[in-house]
Amino acid sequence: MRLLSLQVRDFRNLSQVSLAPSEHATIAVGQNGQGKTNLLEALYLLATLKPLRAGRLSELVRWGTQSARVVGRFLLKGAEREIAVEVGGGVRQAFVDGKKAASLEDYFGGVSVVAFTPDDLEVVKGGPDARRTFLDRAVFNRFPAYLKESREYGRALKNRNRLLRAGPVEPAYLEAYDETLARAGARVYVRRRALMAELGPRARATFEAIGRTPEPAAYGYHPAHLGEVDFATADEATLAGALREALATRTRRDGERGFTSVGPHVDDVTVTLGKRSARAYASQGQQRALVLGWKIAEIENLEAALGFLPLLLLDDVSSELDPERNAYLMNYLSASGAQVFLTTTDGSLVRGAAAEDSLWLGVRAGEVTSAGAVLESSSV
Ligand SMILES: Nc1ncnc2c1ncn2[C@@H]1O[C@H](COP(=O)(O)OP(=O)(O)OP(=O)(O)O)[C@@H](O)[C@H]1O
Ligand SMILES: [Mg+2]
Repeated sequence: MRLLSLQVRDFRNLSQVSLAPSEHATIAVGQNGQGKTNLLEALYLLATLKPLRAGRLSELVRWGTQSARVVGRFLLKGAEREIAVEVGGGVRQAFVDGKKAASLEDYFGGVSVVAFTPDDLEVVKGGPDARRTFLDRAVFNRFPAYLKESREYGRALKNRNRLLRAGPVEPAYLEAYDETLARAGARVYVRRRALMAELGPRARATFEAIGRTPEPAAYGYHPAHLGEVDFATADEATLAGALREALATRTRRDGERGFTSVGPHVDDVTVTLGKRSARAYASQGQQRALVLGWKIAEIENLEAALGFLPLLLLDDVSSELDPERNAYLMNYLSASGAQVFLTTTDGSLVRGAAAEDSLWLGVRAGEVTSAGAVLESSSV
């Protein structure tokens, strides 16, 4: 997979950008607040249809305009394809080769991207919400169908919570909701488990290679409140049954609180160093190395599963890593041969990922320029 060209119109502060990225490193340099992250966010939206950081889609549309548009030409399995996404009026619309995408599978067919941001580096220390989002992004990267599946779960959860809040519920009536939620939840469990089974050992090995910590790392996912069931081996139907039962035993409590207290939406990812919680005990450098280990493992895992490297988006990560770990990452990127977009305020931090064929961009007040010249700004 390779991104051949990118065009952005009215996306955040980027009014018009058109560029042909390097086959390897494309490096966007600029002062704070100029639009570097916006450029990566546009690419991320294009590849995942999800915002990288915005809470609402409307935030993505440039102030004073009606809609934002991002278009990319990709080389996918030897064929060129144009994918596009438009955001306007709070909704987004996806296009493949100029036609509205019939399904998400159709849209994603073979496009894969991994983003790495300073927020990710905080994920070990942060709350469970951030870790779940982190996990779910990795699951989605590996299993694109998960976008739909996790939405189904979210919808079932919302419906059940609404019912609980509406007042005392007829048990038989609630059962139907529990059944739907348990089935969707079991799907989420199975996807997350599959991802962790692939990723956990790789991340552990990568962390070891990053070095400077004698204790081994472990990355785990263990849903709470599933009773006697053996999570590692249970099949999907068994997990659905266990979740249904857990929901049933909590009906009263959930009714009083007005929300569902068991299920994938309350689970956490555990990260340990030498069997101790990394959240509680790891140093800041160790926590960041744990995330770096995970991210590199995620990239390698996708390469093994897909047969090609995903597109990598690294937003200002180098300034947050200590020099040794940054050097490790830069070496990894240049050795992997991956197509990567990096942003930085200081080009010297990412020089290790650069080569002769790198494209250096300057970003200033929403204008993206190359080697001092304003890039071609043909209309999108
Ligand atoms: N919808 C929007 N319309 C116009 N401008 C926007 C919109 N959303 C954000 N901006 C502007 O984009 C700029 C921030 O861009 P961005 O986050 O890409 O900066 P950056 O270059 O990554 O900076 P830093 O180095 O601090 O991370 C801000 O000036 C902000 O006001
Ligand atoms: Mg930024």
